[in-house]
Amino acid sequence: MKAAVHHRYGPPEVLRIAEVALPRIGRRDIRVRVHASTVTSGDARLRSLRAPAGFRLPIRLAFGLRGPRQPIPGMEFAGEVEAVGAEVTRFRPGQAVFGIVLRGANAEYLTIREDAAVLPIPAGLAFAEAAAVPFGALAALTFLRDVARLAPRERVLVIGAAGGVGVFAVQIAKHLGAEVTGLCNGANADLVRSLGADAVVDRSLGPRGAGARAYDVILDTVGATRFAAWRPCLAPRGRHVFLSFGLWEVVQMATTSLRPGPRVLCGFSGNDPAELARIATLLEAGVLRPVIGRRHRLEDIAAAHREVDGGGKRGSLVIEVTDPG
Ligand SMILES: NC(=O)c1ccc[n+]([C@@H]2O[C@H](COP(=O)([O-])OP(=O)(O)OC[C@H]3O[C@@H](n4cnc5c(N)ncnc54)[C@H](OP(=O)(O)O)[C@@H]3O)[C@@H](O)[C@H]2O)c1
Repeated sequence: MKAAVHHRYGPPEVLRIAEVALPRIGRRDIRVRVHASTVTSGDARLRSLRAPAGFRLPIRLAFGLRGPRQPIPGMEFAGEVEAVGAEVTRFRPGQAVFGIVLRGANAEYLTIREDAAVLPIPAGLAFAEAAAVPFGALAALTFLRDVARLAPRERVLVIGAAGGVGVFAVQIAKHLGAEVTGLCNGANADLVRSLGADAVVDRSLGPRGAGARAYDVILDTVGATRFAAWRPCLAPRGRHVFLSFGLWEVVQMATTSLRPGPRVLCGFSGNDPAELARIATLLEAGVLRPVIGRRHRLEDIAAAHREVDGGGKRGSLVIEVTDPG
């Protein structure tokens, strides 16, 4: 099969297209013919090993010391079940499915355990739309509900509101009953409003544009803010939540937990199948809609990564892998 591969960490040029063996299918695995995948900020980070000091060694230990153990990048996928293992009960060949893996989705086929993060595609969603959901939606749900513990009627500022995580954070925060302000490039203001944001702040205005004591939660999906500079924008019991953070934010999380006043919170989201099922329910109910900024062919994988590295991504960058026919 055809797949994107890279055997060392580095710039987008480490990526190439190669013919590789079809992934083997275990007794409880399904093999998916991938029609659509994506390049997320997480994929770009894993390719380049771009991470704050103190985080690179853990990433190398998890994914491969000198180069990635799984050479095929890509987390999100949507496609059709092509084959099922002998003990699979939940899926049958021909079914349209979507999901998320740690690596291996930028390829014509992938295998995944039937009890991992893979589900039938909700009615009405195209393959490309379904592939554009899991990474951003899972992160947004986990960080707003579990890390920030966002309550109804609280005021939340989403930094990077037009990005892969941000577009879902705006929609999920509205769904949780919050009053939502999106901070983004002025060119993305209409998009962010169309997702349900009550207000939009141009990112060039910085903390002054956001307003004093105006928010219960600042959700920084980008790692573009600093607690010291944005603290005046937080209510006395406000939470400054970082998806992308360094050791300094971890120290601040510890110190702010020991005294009254606004707090810093950091965390991680995972690929929990039960959480993906919650996301699927929200898609079916029309609460969430995916946003596709750009589309590339699998052959253009390096260009797609260059685009993600360049910043300013809108929603998801979809990779069209195989033709659904
Ligand atoms: N901790 C976890 O478990 C976890 C999980 C998922 C994601 N993440 C991290 O979350 C981060 C964001 O992911 P993503 O997929 O949403 O990224 P993305 O799709 O690349 O979007 C980033 C957005 O940030 C905005 N932006 C860029 N520079 C900015 C700045 N200086 N100030 C304000 N906004 C800026 C851009 O929009 P505008 O041009 O409109 O401003 C862009 O659309 C990544 O670092 C990722 O690794 C962490």
